[in-house]
Amino acid sequence: MTILITGGLGFIGGHFLRKIKDKNNFDQIIVFDKMTYASNYNRVKSVFEKNNFLLVKGDISNKNDVQKVFQTHKPNIIINFAAESHVDNSIMNPELFLEVNTKGTLNLLIEAKKLWIDENNTLKQQFKKSFFYQISTDEVFGSLSHNSYFDEKSPYSPNSPYSASKAGADHFVKAFQKTFNLPTIISYSSNNFGPYQNEEKFIPKIISCVKKNEDIPIYSDGSNIRDWIYVEDHCKAIELILEIGKPGEEYCIGGSNEMSNLEICKLILKIVDKLIPSKNKNANMDRIKFVKDRKGHDFRYALKTSKIFYDYEIFHNSSFKENLKFTISHFLNLKK
Ligand SMILES: NC(=O)c1ccc[n+]([C@@H]2O[C@H](COP(=O)([O-])OP(=O)(O)OC[C@H]3O[C@@H](n4cnc5c(N)ncnc54)[C@H](O)[C@@H]3O)[C@@H](O)[C@H]2O)c1
Repeated sequence: MTILITGGLGFIGGHFLRKIKDKNNFDQIIVFDKMTYASNYNRVKSVFEKNNFLLVKGDISNKNDVQKVFQTHKPNIIINFAAESHVDNSIMNPELFLEVNTKGTLNLLIEAKKLWIDENNTLKQQFKKSFFYQISTDEVFGSLSHNSYFDEKSPYSPNSPYSASKAGADHFVKAFQKTFNLPTIISYSSNNFGPYQNEEKFIPKIISCVKKNEDIPIYSDGSNIRDWIYVEDHCKAIELILEIGKPGEEYCIGGSNEMSNLEICKLILKIVDKLIPSKNKNANMDRIKFVKDRKGHDFRYALKTSKIFYDYEIFHNSSFKENLKFTISHFLNLKK
């Protein structure tokens, strides 16, 4: 079995690679990554010392790159993590998000279909166990008010160029399933946090501001609500889907940790103050500065986690506060 993992050098992909490093589920693991600013090769380079891991530098939005990796390695399973992932960047440059997130996914689907599906729209014998796994986000469903949740059946209603480009990709995944019988799986997760996340994202940004003695910018009045999932829990869910997920199915991976941006910022600062006590007790809290709201800022995301993850109790040892503390210690260089 050969698995092709796109975007494996990014934040979530990197955690996933380290998770599967010592397992023997696959004969070959091909990591296909453009190595953009969001990638971190050094963090995962040890996995490539293993004989069955191979790094291929390439761009999912480049048809030739995609064709070449499919024709050379003939993957049985594809997990597509590769994406431009920062909403603020998508507001500045929506076209890049269309090219990478939507067209890039389409390029992968076209090559998977070419490789796996015969002229009668059925899976070729050697690809009977194949599937295309798209890593999606709760943001494709749009914005929620209080007291309701998105689930696998929620209609798409993206608001940012990022979520529109991810929604477009998901629609192509579903269209390839319906039109060509391509076996596909989609999972949606809520906001991830954890060590090695890019500094542009909300939690590392707060800690970076503290380290640099800078103001901490919070959009609007900080009341926007996000549901936070620890990246390792997300990766556990992805592993379970790889093992027992059913092609044609969709899965929601929520964190069950809803907090307003202001609440989580204050919680982070309290933890920082405990880890590095300072004489001026309010110094970090005083750094919070409310700034002009993000354009089209969604008010709330929240997912109803799919039953399968409770059945297998994969999150039962996970503590949000402990994981947050570990993450903060990582960014403060207190733990390696
Ligand atoms: N981070 C989150 O909170 C979150 C939540 C839900 C879903 N997701 C989804 O999970 C996936 C991974 O997110 P992340 O936070 O790890 O992203 P990231 O930005 O940290 O990493 C993206 C990776 O993709 C690679 N990449 C970018 N463009 C590429 C291209 N054209 N061709 C090949 N590789 C390319 C980058 O080099 C990088 O290694 C994305 O699809 C994202 O939409 C993320």
